[in-house]
Amino acid sequence: MRIGFFDSGLGGLMILKAARQTLPRHDFVYFGDTLHLPYGGRSNDAIYAYTERAIDHLLRKEDCNLVIVACNTASAAALRRLQQGYLAENFPDRRVLGVVIPTLEATLEYGCKKIGLLATERLVQSQIYQMELRKLDPEIEIFAAAAPLLVPLIENNGQKWLPPILADYIAPLLEQGIEALILGCTHYPFLRPYLKELLPPHVQIISQDEIIPAKLADYLQRHPEIDSAIGREGMTKFLVTDVTNNYIRTATEIYGTAPKLEKTVL
Ligand code: DGL
Repeated sequence: MRIGFFDSGLGGLMILKAARQTLPRHDFVYFGDTLHLPYGGRSNDAIYAYTERAIDHLLRKEDCNLVIVACNTASAAALRRLQQGYLAENFPDRRVLGVVIPTLEATLEYGCKKIGLLATERLVQSQIYQMELRKLDPEIEIFAAAAPLLVPLIENNGQKWLPPILADYIAPLLEQGIEALILGCTHYPFLRPYLKELLPPHVQIISQDEIIPAKLADYLQRHPEIDSAIGREGMTKFLVTDVTNNYIRTATEIYGTAPKLEKTVL
């Protein structure tokens, strides 16, 4: 069996790349729904439908016993419904996990009292980070900024416009005195160099490619029944729903050489 990684596009490749460094012998399958990206401005129902189809493909056709929904937006709009309905009915002994709770747990380790969140519109509207944080520590405040322009700019080689737009998005968060900034979207690790310039040095940048691999390794250690069934060939398969030059460029930027992207039709 294999570990599936699902994202709306190719941003999640950064998390997968880091996960492969942590778990070099485990077998992975990546699924990027590049045909329907961006998810960030879509309705919950549309995101749910795309997510269920992708997860179904990973579980049924790609033999995954564990799928990480790397996409924050899909985690917010679809994960709970999927776990309680589709998964419980069809694959009760397999697991589909999101990234929100592990990201918050890692953020709390810094001991900060005011956290900023930069994310897509749908993610911010969902309030998922606020709801989960309340369960972990109701004393801590979270201030969110919806950043609808960032994914299209990153996807379309728009780096030169990023610094002023980013500065505008984070200004209200800085006014609130945040001590950490969660990059709540798989594309945002790309922003780290710009944010290092824009943020005061005491503001910790919380990037999921630096968090999720260790959390995944820890999960596997605590769930030997899942871990022992995963193949150890060190293989990764890359699936996308559409192959475009942008995606080849993004994948090449992340991996150094372009991974072989196989187009899958759902
Ligand atoms: N991958 C999505 C996330 O992590 C953002 C990109 C999109 O809008 O599809 O939220």
